[in-house]
Amino acid sequence: MIQTSISYQPFTQQRIADFQKRETPFYFYDMALLDNTLAALRRSSSKHDFTVHYALKANVNEELLRKIKAAGLGADCVSGNEIRQALACGFSGKDVVFAGVGKSDREIRFGLEHDIYCFNCESLQELTVLQELAAEMNKTARVALRVNPNIDAKTHRYITTGLRDNKFGINPRDFEKIASLLQDSPNLVLRGLHFHIGSQVTDIDVYAGLCERVNDLQQWFTDRGIDLPDLNLGGGLGINYKEPDRYPIADFESYFSTIAQHLKRLPGQHVHFELGRSIVGQCGSLISRALYIKEGVETTFAVLDAGMTELIRPALYQSHHYIENLSSDLPEQTYDIVGPICESSDCFGRDVQLAEIRRGDLIAIRSAGAYGQVMASRYNLRDLAESVYGKRENLVTNEK
Ligand code: LLP
Repeated sequence: MIQTSISYQPFTQQRIADFQKRETPFYFYDMALLDNTLAALRRSSSKHDFTVHYALKANVNEELLRKIKAAGLGADCVSGNEIRQALACGFSGKDVVFAGVGKSDREIRFGLEHDIYCFNCESLQELTVLQELAAEMNKTARVALRVNPNIDAKTHRYITTGLRDNKFGINPRDFEKIASLLQDSPNLVLRGLHFHIGSQVTDIDVYAGLCERVNDLQQWFTDRGIDLPDLNLGGGLGINYKEPDRYPIADFESYFSTIAQHLKRLPGQHVHFELGRSIVGQCGSLISRALYIKEGVETTFAVLDAGMTELIRPALYQSHHYIENLSSDLPEQTYDIVGPICESSDCFGRDVQLAEIRRGDLIAIRSAGAYGQVMASRYNLRDLAESVYGKRENLVTNEK
């Protein structure tokens, strides 16, 4: 993955002084980085006239959603409550696409009531239910068929969604049945096909492969004279968890240009995306304090006041997040950085080298803007972490 390198210093002394006055743990969002990310996204997507929907599942905070809406993005929702939140933050029904393998009747009705742009449907049965509910409400539902393309996204198996043994999408073997079902469904209008093969995809070539597959699958419909005015390629573009200050903005340029190059876009067809992580991932950090430093038999543990209840990604996906000590410039030591929760998986990183930690030091866990706060839990009856929003001054862009 080629990435544009930008030098970036997110935590000024002034900011750290502000953090010191606050209760920890909390989530800090760098709103200027979000602005810069949205500007880069727009520059790269508009070259190809691509439409981007922000995947709310990554982060549903109002401050972020309002900025994202103001930047002209649509909303990709996976529950009735996400649609409700999108509407409450300024999106209109027409901005919303609704995905998910298990939409309840209540959620479908809610989507129909608000005339959302499109239901991304995942099964024959879902289409039947959607037709019934739309007929009852005297509505017409626009639908896209989520197709399982059987493409390996080369990412963690828990966030791989486009392989044939994943629960997602319609099997191309069912196209015949679907086509006749749609013909008998007066309240459904087919808009196009939808794909999403997984998340945190860093090998851009994977998208070239997806496009080749999409080109083949579309052919089945065009051969039968079935119109596909829309194509939705989902999300998944990865971010750099190892060096967030060197690569604070995802490689939108390569992503969109690879797709533009390999996709056989039908005449007049609109191409949509659903990006989550690449938009909000880098602007968020989890800020915590070191409670205790203790020597194990072979390991030095730094016990933080944040744990898997605030950020579950390392425990769930063994994911790496860059960790830094904001309070110390002492020589580096090696630590296992752990949380206070009664689970051995409550560990943010093993053998992490960072400036010597003393009790009370502020520790930042970076790249936590996506799938951080939204996946928090109240396990051990923990309080939910607050959000702090900051503006930034010293982003230096070296972009060509
Ligand atoms: N569209 C669909 C249908 C999806 O299932 C997802 C993510 C997206 C779009 C947005 O993907 P993104 O651009 O954010 O990669 N909790 C996991 C990630 C789960 C992703 C679920 N689906 C994590 O923390 O890595």
